[in-house]
Amino acid sequence: MFTKKVLIITNIIFGVIILILAYILLFTGTELVKTPDDNRIVVKYAPDLRELVLNEMRDYLEVMNEIQIGLAQNDPDMIVKAATRQGDLSLQETPIRLLKLSPIPCKTMGFKGHDIFQAIADSAKVNFNRTTTINQLAELTNNCVVCHRTYKIELE
Ligand code: HEC
Repeated sequence: MFTKKVLIITNIIFGVIILILAYILLFTGTELVKTPDDNRIVVKYAPDLRELVLNEMRDYLEVMNEIQIGLAQNDPDMIVKAATRQGDLSLQETPIRLLKLSPIPCKTMGFKGHDIFQAIADSAKVNFNRTTTINQLAELTNNCVVCHRTYKIELE
């Protein structure tokens, strides 16, 4: 009788320990941190659209990196090749759905970014001048910054 009770109590203690460990493993350290001064406008996209936009954003960063390497190595061909990837042609791949769901200033900044990528490619091709490319990059980065300050994406 006594050993049965001890066994039950030991099992309960063991179970509680497992639960506490599972809680620590699964739920701590992953809490969402809310920044109190985040007053960006929320744009809602379906999961596939959000994925598409963020994927494109990561490519912007890669293209900018390639342009910077091109500048450092004085290699206009590399700049033309990289910037063209996000230039006018890339606009043709923009789904209409994305345009419909995006506020007008957001769309405008999106188009402006592609325009500047195209301008970087064009001027590096026709008459490469490092200062021109650097100035264009500064204008481009400013466009990224303004949009990031204004909008954030949440799932629809
Ligand atoms: C039209 C507005 C807009 C422009 C222009 C823009 N972005 Fe973004 N970008 C966003 C939004 C919105 C997010 C999501 C931010 C969030 O939800 O917190 C984002 C996210 C990102 C991310 C994170 C991607 C990920 O996987 O989470 C990167 C990197 C990024 N942008 C790079 C850039 C760069 C570089 C430029 C300029 C060449 C740029 N973006 C221009 C709106 C923009």
